[in-house]
Amino acid sequence: MRPTFLLPPLLALLPLAQTYTPLSTSLLKSLPAPADSDYDPETGTLLSPLLIPRVPGTPGQEAAQAHLVSFFRTHLPQWEVSWQNSTDTTPATGDRRLPFANIVLRREPPWTKGRPGAAGFLTLVAHYDSKIEPEGFVGATDSAAPCAVLMDVARQVEGFLGRMWAADGEGKGGGGEGVQILLLDGEEAFVRWTETDSLYGSRALAEEWENTTHPARSTFKNPLQQISLFVLLDLLGAPNPEVPSYFQGTHWAYKRMAAVEGRLRQLGLLESKPTGNQFLHDSGKMATQFSGGGFVGDDHVPFMMRGAPVLHLIPSPFPHVWHTMEDDGDHLDVPTIKDWARIVTAFTLEWMDRNSLHNIVTAGSVLFGLPHSTSLRPPPIARFAVVGGLHPATRPPLQPTSARLAIGDMDGKRHAASFQQLEKLGEGTYATVFKGRNRQTGELVALKEIHLDSEEGTPSTAIREISLMKELKHENIVALHDVIHTENKLMLVFEYMDGDLKKYMDTQGERGALKPPVIKSFMYQLLKGIDFCHKNRVLHRDLKPQNLLINGKGQLKLGDFGLARAFGIPVNTFSNEVVTLWYRAPDVLLGSRTYNTSIDIWSAGCIMAEMFSGRPLFPGTTNEDQIIRIFRIMGTPTERTWPGLSQFPEYKTTWQMYATQPLNSILPQIDPVGIDLLQRMLHVRPELRVSAAEALVHPWFNDLIGPKQHQQHLHTQQMMHPHGGYQQTVPSQSNYGGY
Ligand SMILES: *[C@@H]1O[C@H](CO)[C@@H](O)[C@H](O)[C@H]1NC(C)=O
Ligand SMILES: *[C@@H]1O[C@H](CO)[C@@H](O)[C@H](O)[C@H]1NC(C)=O
Ligand SMILES: *[C@@H]1O[C@H](CO)[C@@H](O)[C@H](O)[C@H]1NC(C)=O
Repeated sequence: MRPTFLLPPLLALLPLAQTYTPLSTSLLKSLPAPADSDYDPETGTLLSPLLIPRVPGTPGQEAAQAHLVSFFRTHLPQWEVSWQNSTDTTPATGDRRLPFANIVLRREPPWTKGRPGAAGFLTLVAHYDSKIEPEGFVGATDSAAPCAVLMDVARQVEGFLGRMWAADGEGKGGGGEGVQILLLDGEEAFVRWTETDSLYGSRALAEEWENTTHPARSTFKNPLQQISLFVLLDLLGAPNPEVPSYFQGTHWAYKRMAAVEGRLRQLGLLESKPTGNQFLHDSGKMATQFSGGGFVGDDHVPFMMRGAPVLHLIPSPFPHVWHTMEDDGDHLDVPTIKDWARIVTAFTLEWMDRNSLHNIVTAGSVLFGLPHSTSLRPPPIARFAVVGGLHPATRPPLQPTSARLAIGDMDGKRHAASFQQLEKLGEGTYATVFKGRNRQTGELVALKEIHLDSEEGTPSTAIREISLMKELKHENIVALHDVIHTENKLMLVFEYMDGDLKKYMDTQGERGALKPPVIKSFMYQLLKGIDFCHKNRVLHRDLKPQNLLINGKGQLKLGDFGLARAFGIPVNTFSNEVVTLWYRAPDVLLGSRTYNTSIDIWSAGCIMAEMFSGRPLFPGTTNEDQIIRIFRIMGTPTERTWPGLSQFPEYKTTWQMYATQPLNSILPQIDPVGIDLLQRMLHVRPELRVSAAEALVHPWFNDLIGPKQHQQHLHTQQMMHPHGGYQQTVPSQSNYGGY
């Protein structure tokens, strides 16, 4: 590899938006330590067989291939091994074509197997060839050590992946994230590094992948697009590596890996004592410092040119043994290599955990136990137990240990008869909501009856959502007290709320618009509820006025967590069809499947605007119309204002270019400080959107009124009914779906 200054930096700027939760300390501690018996230069089972010359077309290359492949076949049979072979002439060999054989090792969720283009892959890469001269050159640091590290990483993560995917089993049919390892051939130049005399293997692979087209309607068009992050390990066997952050577009990933390294060091889990404190020392690099686009030419280039996001782990300066005969076993620093194995393993686990269904779709941590815990050790999951309990004849037997969320308190102790059914509050396609009264305590409740399809039974996702809600306790989230299952229906017992925000605006607002102090209070409560969800790794994904419930005390609570999804329209886990159109974030509309908590913030911004104006801000009719309505006000983004924009599936070169409208001209009702907050919530670029936690400390809330005063506002404004809150004035009608 050599330094080049060729590519414009934009190519490396692919946004990846996902929630991020660090692995737990106990998990980090429980990872087996990399073993000297793997890395000893003389005898190490992973490393020592690679410490031979491995030039393409020589027996050394074949021996290396045999070692790499047999390791996976023997120890990791779950990993799919495939080859990508090509031949090429080189300046050193004249007309004779040399073979270049890349080894591709893949591990993907069971439900994406056999469906090309369904899974994304965290892609870990090293080359395994060595240089033709100096004769006898071994390339221990150069490539043997990185290959051994990747073998070790694969073995370490295997156990976790299997268990995690078993827990995510409901992802069947949806997308998913796997790990792939690329061991590339022919990286080194034969005579002198040029565009044609170098990167033989990676050029062939990137080109072939670009030309491979997955079946229509696959999530990913080709294998290149399946690369969610390309992590290239190079020259990593020497002591005191100093690895800078090369690309602004993946600096976030660099920072995560650096954070992992920092935690491992703090926990005393790394052996090396690098002079620079950390291998990855560049987390503080500022955006302005990435100018110039200089980087080290290496195997990533053919992939980066085609749009793959790259994290390049190569020290600068290079180790002094670089391309000399000293790059051999004697000059390796084994503690450093073992530390790299640990760092990359932990990074990979964190990545996989973060991208697994239980984190993205709902809340693994809530289901599995405590907030913020890692979900990598899922116990047999309660939702299976619940499902089994509901359909004993057709489901596998229960795990008795997982009864915490299970049917014990659902079926046995309470019955539908414990509740007196009062008037019907609403009816939807899949559920009816009644007002009810707990016969024992007299407490008012909302009873949501879900009609079960006797053929289908209860979808397990529904049970998951329910279990999730029971654990999610917060004053701004509607409490689910109970779940009662009878033969053909499921009854959810919620805390009683008087109505939803939609009806409240319709009936109490001034042509739908609410008074500013009320809006402020509602927004604060909305953001508090969202913040709580996000801290517990729950995305609501369907925030809209109909889903925000309100009671006579002026409290606002989030309702309908995925229940619509669970019982109504079947929704693909990674599909972008998740938020009601009007409140849907532009990144979702553009087809992003990597959205994170920011999608709820967008919805909250739309709701804020609507409370002020009484009208939905972006009342689109179709996906396309929705996008255009947003652009008309927020301005049409470009690759300049939103790097990576053109990569979105729904990107159109034909969009009309609209200038950004000042929000205060569209919404003159809102004071300047409120406009500032709204602006921050309605950034079209998701990564620029304010978080719920940040929004809560925005100055707009400085003069927030307390609940008491708020109540007065409500009363004076709305002539509350003495007993039932404002709901009495609301005609009961259909679609009372907020629970
Ligand atoms: C969501 O993704 C963006 C990157 O697009 C990131 O900046 C932000 O921190 C992410 N939010 C969370 C909560 O992880
Ligand atoms: C690719 O090359 C390797 C190494 O020579 C060989 O073992 C393998 O069978 C080849 N695979 C294909 C598909 O040609
Ligand atoms: C890929 O496609 C291009 C353009 O069609 C073609 O020139 C090239 O030979 C193809 N490469 C491979 C490896 O199939």
